[in-house]
Amino acid sequence: MSAGGADPADGTAADPAAETEAAAAALRGGPHVPPEEGVIGCRDVSKTFGAVTAVDDVTVGIERGEWVSIVGPNGAGKTTLLNVLNGFYEPDSGGEVYLKGEDVTTLPEHRRARRGLGRTFQGLELFESEDVIENVKTVRAVHERPNLFEALVYLGPGAAKEAESTRHVEEIIDYLELWEYRHARIASLPLGIRRRVDLARSLALDPDVLLLDEAMSGLTFDEKYDMVRLLTDLHEQEGLTLVMIEHDLEVVTEVSDRMIVMQEGGVIARGPPRAVTDDPEVARVYTGVE
Ligand SMILES: Nc1ncnc2c1ncn2[C@@H]1O[C@H](COP(=O)(O)OP(=O)(O)OP(=O)(O)O)[C@@H](O)[C@H]1O
Ligand SMILES: [Mg+2]
Repeated sequence: MSAGGADPADGTAADPAAETEAAAAALRGGPHVPPEEGVIGCRDVSKTFGAVTAVDDVTVGIERGEWVSIVGPNGAGKTTLLNVLNGFYEPDSGGEVYLKGEDVTTLPEHRRARRGLGRTFQGLELFESEDVIENVKTVRAVHERPNLFEALVYLGPGAAKEAESTRHVEEIIDYLELWEYRHARIASLPLGIRRRVDLARSLALDPDVLLLDEAMSGLTFDEKYDMVRLLTDLHEQEGLTLVMIEHDLEVVTEVSDRMIVMQEGGVIARGPPRAVTDDPEVARVYTGVE
């Protein structure tokens, strides 16, 4: 075809080592979209706690409607990154966080929540002695009334608003197939249901972007299956953008559009799940084999 190898594409296509190198390089590229153009993202974000650098110069951009998974070993900085994205932490100076194109770096958590950013917790922050309905309702009430105590005892003149709020909460509980548990105290429920209640709480303010911190951790196979099914419905039917920290690579590969791999605070690979899990560098992080 070409005399003297004039077409460089011929050379690279025939060279498996070069192909592997190109595939690996593609996983080491920058963010999928610039953070300010995505539905959520951050630029040059670091977060240090004393001598510990939990997140180290991370830039990510998530497109509306994507399902992105963040993976990486314990202590890689995954939860801290989520905490910076949702406003629980401010990043170290120089870092920027964007929500729907707006710089929200200094915007407090509850105001990001009002702009459609929901989140679940690795450690489940539920009110153990309250029932399922109260747990979900409290999220809305706290946002409607700034004082938690007032929110819990509120029975005042805004009864119509209260009724509307209750109806909305019941809809969420029904959607997540929690109806039969609605009057059960959290402390009496199995982990799979508790994680679903946490998901219900994260939906209380009608988010369009959901950050999930190990929503399937500790669940049985069947409980995981239920959670995946519900998240798939939220993603496909309700159009939610999902950013999910998850250790189960089988689940991650099955559901995600893209994967982001963190190690020691930084992003070491990102891209389509199959390409990422096939990457030798990622395999090394997971198996510890050189
Ligand atoms: N509030 C904090 N104060 C001090 N150190 C912290 C704090 N939060 C996190 N760290 C440290 O930052 C590093 C990253 O922690 P982080 O919880 O973000 O990791 P992770 O990837 O979520 O881990 P895991 O998979 O175990 O949940 C760890 O070394 C952790 O001990
Ligand atoms: Mg974590």
